[in-house]
Amino acid sequence: MSAAQRPQPRAGVLDIEAYVPGRSTATGVVRVFKLSSNETPLGPSPQAIAAYRDVADHLQDYPDGSATALRKAIGRTFGLDPARIVCGAGSDELLYLLARGYLGSGDEAIYTKHGFNIYPIAVLGAGGKPVVAAETNYTADVDAILAKVSERTRIVFLANPNNPTGTYLPFDEVKRLHKALPPHVLLVLDAAYAEYIHRNDYEAGIELVATCENAVMCRTFSKIYGLAALRLGWVYGPAPVIDVLNRLRGPFNVNSAAMAAGIAAIADSAHVEAARAHNATWLVWLDAEIRKLGLEVTPSIANFVLIHFPATEGCTAADADEFLIKRGLILRRVTSYHLPNALRMTVGTEEANRLVVAALAEFMGSR
Ligand SMILES: Cc1ncc(COP(=O)(O)O)c(C=O)c1O
Repeated sequence: MSAAQRPQPRAGVLDIEAYVPGRSTATGVVRVFKLSSNETPLGPSPQAIAAYRDVADHLQDYPDGSATALRKAIGRTFGLDPARIVCGAGSDELLYLLARGYLGSGDEAIYTKHGFNIYPIAVLGAGGKPVVAAETNYTADVDAILAKVSERTRIVFLANPNNPTGTYLPFDEVKRLHKALPPHVLLVLDAAYAEYIHRNDYEAGIELVATCENAVMCRTFSKIYGLAALRLGWVYGPAPVIDVLNRLRGPFNVNSAAMAAGIAAIADSAHVEAARAHNATWLVWLDAEIRKLGLEVTPSIANFVLIHFPATEGCTAADADEFLIKRGLILRRVTSYHLPNALRMTVGTEEANRLVVAALAEFMGSR
């Protein structure tokens, strides 16, 4: 059979660059510190682990396809109408469903230059056209996004704060962006790191979504709640968008263990606060200590920092990565985010943070 005779995927699929997850292994070292996927160093709430274990006695039963108890728990925690929430197998799934629901062939979706890598995958996979808006100082730029809006634009994806830069748009800027978008363009506010942020000028999107027809907010249990392995996320949106997602999603897209653990995790506010406080302390410390070594750090409000390395041979991000991996310290290369000379480091345990700073000091000192 010639290549032309084989079954052919739809247009756009072969343009997708498959997502490469953060590395998790390093050979020849005794201990590995994985700081490459923005996972919480505190792990999940012990109550979430217990709830997960309890599900083991009921594995023969299908999950509740409407995720009723989980949506109620989320609604209670955030003061939201559960009818306007859809849960998904990670917020990734919800991003894919939004693209499938709102992009037809050739329709455009905008995201920013260093925006989360799932957006182009979701857009191309839905048959749409990814459109990239420039950033300013590694930060989304409302005017640059608006300049890319065309007659074919259907979605704007905004990670706020963004991964891998850690930068954010204040709520005033999000509102300015939303106000200037045509009403048929859906603004997707991806707030995967929102729980880490207590700032007067930041709002994850609840207020905006509650008062308009063309914005949604995606959230995840993978970060501060420590449930990345279970794949659990949710989206809050206007009723018509929620209807679209409920038609498209698999009938049992969220499994029972994820739901049980999610309900317990969201109820353990002390654990969430401990994770937030740990992050607040060590984010500031890492930023300051890494800068002292002469390296540039993009100001972050999330649970990771983007560290920039010189382009000089021997001092590059690739060299640093190799140096750190030999010591069991796994950071994230971000070349696929158009940042070939940077590494993203997740805020880890105190031990991991101190080890990375000491190793970076040795790396810089030995050059
Ligand atoms: C900005 C952003 N959105 C969404 C996700 C996906 O999270 P989930 O594990 O819920 O699919 C991530 C994960 O890294 C992220 O950084």
